[in-house]
Amino acid sequence: RRILVIHGPNLNLLGTREPEVYGSQTLNDINQHLLSVASDLGITLTHTQNNIEGELVNAIHAARGQVDAIIINPAAYTHTSVAIRDALAGVAIPFVEVHLSNVYQRESFRHHSYFSEIAIGVISGLGAYSYEAALRFLAQRNT
Ligand code: DQA
Repeated sequence: RRILVIHGPNLNLLGTREPEVYGSQTLNDINQHLLSVASDLGITLTHTQNNIEGELVNAIHAARGQVDAIIINPAAYTHTSVAIRDALAGVAIPFVEVHLSNVYQRESFRHHSYFSEIAIGVISGLGAYSYEAALRFLAQRNT
């Protein structure tokens, strides 16, 4: 199985960005850990990060036929982006929405997601383990 991990805007700053909210691991730390878990699970994992909404749309289009599932942290676009939601619906690749922080513990503008109603599921608040939990879930799904 092939899984694509998509990280949205500002996640390139992980490690130094509000560490009390997002933890001290860098994005590279998280990706390296996911690659090692994926290899144990027999999953081919690729990952990408972008700060630009349209580039995230392009990455989703390019994934069509290339991956079986997506793990996406749309970051701030979670709360704003009809375009990224429509891209995921358009390519019809099943996806899990993840967040490092528990968005429901935070400002009310973070409580709405354009993605949740079309996601397989949503994981929020487990820190970097939100991604790993999604990966382990997808690895055993439909097998
Ligand atoms: C986030 C939560 C979003 O509200 C925020 O804009 C982010 C990161 C998270 O992983 O907790 O950038 O998606």
